[in-house]
Amino acid sequence: MMASVMQILDSVDPLQTEIARWKRQGHTVGLVPTMGDLHEGHLSLVRQAREKADRLVVSLFVNPLQFGPGEDFDRYPRRLDADSSLLGKERVDILFVPGNDAIYPQGTQAVRQVSAGDLASILCGVGRPGHFDGVATVVKRLFEIVQPDLAVFGQKDYQQLLVIRRLVAGAGLEVDILGGPTFREADGLAMSTRNRYLNAKERAVAPQLYAELQAAKALMQAGGLTHEQIVERSIDNLTAVGFRPVYFELRRATNLSVPGETDRDLVLLTAAYLGETRLIDNLLFSL
Ligand code: PAF
Repeated sequence: MMASVMQILDSVDPLQTEIARWKRQGHTVGLVPTMGDLHEGHLSLVRQAREKADRLVVSLFVNPLQFGPGEDFDRYPRRLDADSSLLGKERVDILFVPGNDAIYPQGTQAVRQVSAGDLASILCGVGRPGHFDGVATVVKRLFEIVQPDLAVFGQKDYQQLLVIRRLVAGAGLEVDILGGPTFREADGLAMSTRNRYLNAKERAVAPQLYAELQAAKALMQAGGLTHEQIVERSIDNLTAVGFRPVYFELRRATNLSVPGETDRDLVLLTAAYLGETRLIDNLLFSL
């Protein structure tokens, strides 16, 4: 059978016409929302969605609402040609590249933002007020447009994944939210668009973030030190090699609340600056 050619669409009407046609034919629809500058981590999400859904839409939209003042919205990499040639090899049916007008017809100032709730004000939400509301707003809008049966998001952004799961449950949307495992460079650094901002010296230090998560997990599993002592040690270690940690915390994997003595399903999450670049990572584990 001949592989179909990926369509690139920038407006809502032709996209919805095509999706309605698929649905009439009884096909399921998968969506992978991205902001572009795709790497192997994104492609693994695309492949996961491709396996689960009959038809696949990948969206590429650098969402202004999830960037705060002074953040990297303007310099966020935009590489449509490179992205579309990568996706063309992944049996994507439609690459949706909307402009602001298609996503926010009323304008970004007037849009009524979706609240991401309690999860928006902890961990990454502390230093990035409004970020998760911006994510929830764009994801809800993309779901309204595409009406997917399933959507895939990376576990690297673990807090975002939980925000989206909660959004879907709260709004009663019929979308299966799947988490895709974090893809790492050979030295352990989690793949991320923002790794591009690191200079050579910072890049050499960056894998320490994941190494510290692993060390903290091993210490917690071994017992002996308290969780607080281990977290403090990790923050000291990261600081010593040149990071400016924003947080390094142990939380319940299910809802990111502070775990009690009897909790077993846990996640260590961290955000830290290396120079001007803010990196995040996390590690799920059981005790
Ligand atoms: O994870 C991302 O790339 C973005 O936050 C998302 C989910 C595409 C929303 O803009």
